[in-house]
Amino acid sequence: MNVNDVHHEGLKSWVNQIVDLCQPDKVYWCDGSENEYQDLCNLLVRQGTLKPLNPHKRPNSFLALSDPSDVARVEDKTFVCSQKPEDAGPTNNWVDPKEMKTKLNGLFRGCMKGRTLYVVPFCMGPLGSPLSKLGVELTESPYVAVSMKIMTRMGAKALRQLGADGDFVKCLHSVGQPLLPGQKDAPWPCNKEQKYIVHFPEEESIWSFGSGYGGNALLGKKCFALRIASTMGRDQGWLAEHMLILGVESPQKEKKYVAAAFPSACGKTNFAMLIPPKGFDGWKVTTVGDDIAWIRLDSEGRLRAINPEAGFFGVAPGTSAKTNPNAMKTLSRNTIFTNVALTDEGDVWWEGMTETPPSHLIDWQGQDWTPDCGRPAAHPNARFTVSATQCPSLDSQFDNPEGVPLSAFIFGGRRADTIPLVCESRDWKSGVYMAATTGSETTAAATGAVGVVRRDPMAMLPFCGYNMGDYFNHWVSFESKTSRLPKIFCVNWFRKGTNGKFLWPGFGDNMRVLKWIFERVDGKTSATENVLGWSPEFHDLDWSGLESFSEETFEKLMTLELAHWEQELKSQEEFFNKIGSRLPKVFSEIQSSLKEKLSNISESQGPNAHV
Ligand code: OXD
Ligand code: MN
Repeated sequence: MNVNDVHHEGLKSWVNQIVDLCQPDKVYWCDGSENEYQDLCNLLVRQGTLKPLNPHKRPNSFLALSDPSDVARVEDKTFVCSQKPEDAGPTNNWVDPKEMKTKLNGLFRGCMKGRTLYVVPFCMGPLGSPLSKLGVELTESPYVAVSMKIMTRMGAKALRQLGADGDFVKCLHSVGQPLLPGQKDAPWPCNKEQKYIVHFPEEESIWSFGSGYGGNALLGKKCFALRIASTMGRDQGWLAEHMLILGVESPQKEKKYVAAAFPSACGKTNFAMLIPPKGFDGWKVTTVGDDIAWIRLDSEGRLRAINPEAGFFGVAPGTSAKTNPNAMKTLSRNTIFTNVALTDEGDVWWEGMTETPPSHLIDWQGQDWTPDCGRPAAHPNARFTVSATQCPSLDSQFDNPEGVPLSAFIFGGRRADTIPLVCESRDWKSGVYMAATTGSETTAAATGAVGVVRRDPMAMLPFCGYNMGDYFNHWVSFESKTSRLPKIFCVNWFRKGTNGKFLWPGFGDNMRVLKWIFERVDGKTSATENVLGWSPEFHDLDWSGLESFSEETFEKLMTLELAHWEQELKSQEEFFNKIGSRLPKVFSEIQSSLKEKLSNISESQGPNAHV
C-alpha cells in the first residue's frame, strides 16, 4: 500500500518517529491482501524462516522452527507500567513508566537496521462492530506480519475503519537483532539476552523487544486484547476476558452461548470445538472463539460477547482426531506451524497426534528424531496459526458486529481433588468469588513441582493489565447494572481417583455437563445445594451412550471433603492477603460464611465429613 493512501496524520507521524528511532532500511505498509500474504510467505521461505510443507498433504502451509531460546511467553519480562504502581497491582511487574521508556528507547535505537519495517494496521473484532478496537503494529518481522494477517482483520480495511483521526493502540515490536551490512540473517532472529514486553495502559501503547514468538510478538493477542483491553474495560464499563465462546444448540433448535475461562493448557480449544458424543443426536456445539472474549452490556441489559481475534493460535501437542477432530480439519491447509516436527513426507507431526509416532522425523530443533531418542519431537508449546474461517464448527454469528448474548460463564482449572466436576454459584457475587479463587495445578514442565496450586483468578493472572483487586470489584459491579446477568458455573475435568487416573472421560463427554448447564440456565433441570452452591445428582446428567460410567465414579467427582475445603480456604486466604486492601468487601463476607458452614459441619459430623 502506498503511504499517499494513508490519511491519518497521527499514524503517519508516529510511524516517522519510530523510523527515526529504529532506523529500518525500508518501510512497507501492509494492505492485508492474499497476494501480499503469499509474497511475504515466499520471502520468509527464501530467508529460511518458513519451510513449505508438502502441498499434497498440507496445501499452502509452512513450518517455522524458532530459536530454542524463544519458545513461549516470558511472564517475568512482562511489565505493566501504569503511572502508579498500585494500579498495576501485586500480580504484575511494574517499573516507573519514565524509567522504562528510557530503557526501551535505548534498546530500540537502531534495532531495525538492515531490515524492513512493516506497518500492520489491524482491527480486533468484526469490522464495524461497536465492540471492536483498532491497533497498528510496527514490526520488522515478516513472520509477525503474516501471522497478524491470520489472527486479525488486517490491512487496508482496518486502515479505512481508522479514517483520518480514529483512535488506535500503538503496538511497537522488534525482534531486537539489527543486521550489519553483508551480515547473514538468522532463520529466526531474536535477541537472546534482552526481552521486554511492556504495556503503558494510560497511553494505550505496547513496546515489545527481543522475541519473535506468539503472545510476545503478535501484539493484538495477549498484550492488546487482554492486558490493554482489560484496562479499557475497567474505564469504560466492559470486560476483556481470557475466555472461549461457544454456542450450544438443542435438538429443538434452541440456542444459547456460553463463555468459559480456563488457564493455559486446560484444553480450551478442544472445549470450544467440542463434538457431542454418541447419544446426543441433534445437539450441536459451535465455535465463536477459543481464547479471548470482549463482553459488554447491550441496550436490553444482556451481556454480549465478541471474539476479537480472527484466527486460532493453538497449542499443537495433544491435538488429534480423537481430542479435537474439528481442529484437525481446520489445520488441513493454509496453516503456519511453529516448532512442530517434520515428517519424511513433508508433513507435520507432534506428540499425541497419532498413537504410534512415525519411525523418523526432523524435530523442532531441526535434528533427526526417532521414537527411542528420548527427546520430544515437537516443543510442548508448539503452535498452529490458522484462520477461524476454516473451522468446520465455526458459529454463524462469528462475524456479527453485535456479538452473541451470553447465558452462562464457566470457570475451570486443573485440580486433582477439592473442586467438583460442576457447580453452579448461588448468585452473581458468589460466582465472582468462585471465579476469583480458581486455582490450577502447575505441570512439571512449568515449575518442576507437580501439583502445586497456583491461583489463577478468571484464568487472567498473567493477562489482567491492572490491579487484581480492582478487577474483582469491576466484576462484582455488574450486579447493580442489570438483572439479566448470565449464571456462573465452575467445572473441573481433571479430578483424579486414588489410582492417580483421571475420573472424568473428558473431551466429547464434557457435553453432558454443558447440557446440564444449558438446562440450568432456565431452571429446566434439578440440582442439589451444597456449601458451594448447586450441583447435579447422578440422575440429573444425561448419560446416553456411555455404558461403563458408574454412579460411584460420579460421586468421586462430586464429593466435597471437609479436610480439602479447610485447606482450600487457607490457600484462598493467602492469595487474598497478597491482593491486599482493594479486595471487594463482599469477598470477606462470602469467605466468613463458607468458614462458618464448614466449622458447623466439622463440629456436628467430624473431620471426615462430606460438605
Ligand atoms: C495462550 C495462553 O497462548 O493462554 O493462549 O498461554
Ligand atoms: Mn490463552
